[in-house]
Amino acid sequence: RATKSLSLTATSPINIALVKYWGKVHEQLIIPANSSLSITIDQADLCSKTKVELIPTAEGAEPQLRLVLNGKEDKITSRIRSIIELMRERTQGVRAHDDQGHTLTLDASELRTHSLIITSENNFATASGLASSSSGLSCLAFVLSQLYGVSESFPDEYTKFARLGSGSACRSLYGGFVQWHRGFQAIQELTEDSAKVSDQSLARAVELSQESMEWWYNNLSILICVVNPGDAQTYQKDVPSTDGMKITLETSELMKLRLEADLAQKHIDQLTGYLEERDFPKFAELTMKESNQLHAVCLDTYPPIFYMNETSRQIIKTATKLNGQGNIVAYSIDAGFHVFLFTLKENQVKVHEAMSVLPGIDQIIITRIGREGVKLI
Ligand code: PMV
Repeated sequence: RATKSLSLTATSPINIALVKYWGKVHEQLIIPANSSLSITIDQADLCSKTKVELIPTAEGAEPQLRLVLNGKEDKITSRIRSIIELMRERTQGVRAHDDQGHTLTLDASELRTHSLIITSENNFATASGLASSSSGLSCLAFVLSQLYGVSESFPDEYTKFARLGSGSACRSLYGGFVQWHRGFQAIQELTEDSAKVSDQSLARAVELSQESMEWWYNNLSILICVVNPGDAQTYQKDVPSTDGMKITLETSELMKLRLEADLAQKHIDQLTGYLEERDFPKFAELTMKESNQLHAVCLDTYPPIFYMNETSRQIIKTATKLNGQGNIVAYSIDAGFHVFLFTLKENQVKVHEAMSVLPGIDQIIITRIGREGVKLI
């Protein structure tokens, strides 16, 4: 019986989709109906930090499984449980160093006799609904795969682990711009039980020339408008994204058209071109149109789903006004009412001033693109 504990800690950034993932073709494996493209946010400003500990259980006691989220005991969801189970199934045992530097070897069955304690915290308010699932679940999947030693084929295997927690989490693996490939060629190939499909659904950093990438790192400013929930009194979204996606796929004719025409892939290709060309105005236009299209298919869902609130709409109107003489700002909104704004540094003050006078915004976080994805610390 081992008497020492093992622990590892990782941090992971949030990411915001420029081309939106909406809809799954496989509910368990989380295979998306379309590919998506995201931008990683600087971890210094927004990230999740997760520590996992394997602690030997006292003689006769049951091993525990606990999650402490932002200082409070939280429930282990079925998604989290499925990541843990997968790690336990896959592990060949662990050889690691404990706190005192001793080498420990634990085989797979010994690992099951250990308690697993997960401690996770965000350096931003989780309750605000700011994409904390992408950072939190990518961090958990990554650090667990490292702890259990099941990450040999990193990063490809890892993107599958992260997806089990939350689809968008797999894009937090990398810094910069990230594409999550849906992993199949045609809509006709969609099938609920094709394991083959999952093998090809992977996230990858978008490859741009070094000069172009540096240009975006140096020039792009990101402003996150944390919108007050108003009457809703809570930052919790009305319809969780998993449920929302399902109803949209079942009922929205617009969504059907988006998938049939493979508009997401078309937008990814166009956007990648604008990134390479360092064309901010075109980048901005397409980013806004993609966001609008997500909220349009949500409205076209029956019964309709509303994620934006009045403040979100006011921010869009203000951005549209600022763009009167040519695009200087882009907005993007996920399944919530907070608004992500993109602008070049030279226009940051102007955009910030215009937004900060609007009622209903609790905070504007000024940040930038993150160079790093998930990492051990
Ligand atoms: O990863 P999920 O299941 O929380 O879904 C995220 C969906 C959107 O944020 C609306 C879009 C995206 O691509 O992140």
